[in-house]
Amino acid sequence: MQPTQAIHAENLVKVFNGKIRAVDDVSFDVRPGEIFGFLGPNGAGKTTTVSMLSAGLRPTQGRAVVDGLEVGKEPEAVKRRIGVIFQESTADGDLTGRENIQVAAGCYGMPRAEGRKRADELVERMQIADAADRLAKTYSGGMRRRLELAVGLVHDPKILFLDEPTLGLDPQGRNGFWGFIQQLRKEEGLTVFVTTHYLDEADTMCDRLAIIDHGKIVATGSPNELKDRLGGDIVTIKTTAGAPDVTNVLSTLIGVHTVQKQDGSYRVKCANGEPFVPLAVEACDKAGAGVTGVTVKRPSLDEVFLEFTGREFRDEDAPTATDRAVMVQRVQNRFGGRR
Ligand SMILES: Nc1ncnc2c1ncn2[C@@H]1O[C@H](COP(=O)(O)OP(=O)(O)O)[C@@H](O)[C@H]1O
Ligand SMILES: [Mg+2]
Repeated sequence: MQPTQAIHAENLVKVFNGKIRAVDDVSFDVRPGEIFGFLGPNGAGKTTTVSMLSAGLRPTQGRAVVDGLEVGKEPEAVKRRIGVIFQESTADGDLTGRENIQVAAGCYGMPRAEGRKRADELVERMQIADAADRLAKTYSGGMRRRLELAVGLVHDPKILFLDEPTLGLDPQGRNGFWGFIQQLRKEEGLTVFVTTHYLDEADTMCDRLAIIDHGKIVATGSPNELKDRLGGDIVTIKTTAGAPDVTNVLSTLIGVHTVQKQDGSYRVKCANGEPFVPLAVEACDKAGAGVTGVTVKRPSLDEVFLEFTGREFRDEDAPTATDRAVMVQRVQNRFGGRR
């Protein structure tokens, strides 16, 4: 590991109940001051990874170093240097926004006066000052997330872990939340480790990404590097029902890297999509396969995911009831014990 890494994960494994390999040999590094995205579908192992990095859950194997500290050896010191915001809401609805922040300050051992001062600062900063003395349960989704951000920042952490921070927010709320994150990074050089299953968010907001699927990292790099690795455009060609197979015909055309057949259409990766289309239509016609539709796409992270996992990125629904129960347990562990 280079001493400059903010987060170093080395062969992390988490097995639940002796059989569920939730995280399966995960390694990566996060540089100081970067926004590092952990992108994967529901159940991929994102929350479990965050929990291991933030000293909430003990890895079955492997190690993590956060801000130069071994998480396994100095969990309490790690907790003081990081802020963690889990996907499940952690704000106490029966306290006001301000009280939520003050309670968190107390958990970190801050004297009362300092906690009050910090709460004043943070409600201002997160633009919830007007609502600071209202019960948190009256807050909108976006305000609640900002309150949680304030709580996560109360002890001035150097590294922020955000687990699906924009889950359930509308596009405006999502953009607003990201605005705060970008600002914090810019003004305070905060390192941000953020999980998401929103491809567009990962693409536009993160400096680098790791894509995780079934507990394994399938690719790491900046969004552009990942897309460049696909080496060109993706052309999808649909032919008439019952048409002969044109996989070989398409494969021999100039500039074609690969051809995959899926449900009566062909997914062609080629250097340059536009000039390829008329050639492909002509070749298919000659082979007796009429073309009924063509799309040309610049690769997006959807394509990257498909390329590296062989399956479509399913934009899954909210977490299941079991996941919720697990999450609540994790929230309860936040300031306390480890499992
Ligand atoms: N405490 C737990 N006990 C048993 N299985 C768990 C527990 N936590 C997570 N899992 C399982 O591990 C896998 C990864 O879960 P999780 O890390 O929550 O995924 P993600 O956050 O990417 O949706 C899932 O199959 C989930 O059901
Ligand atoms: Mg999760």
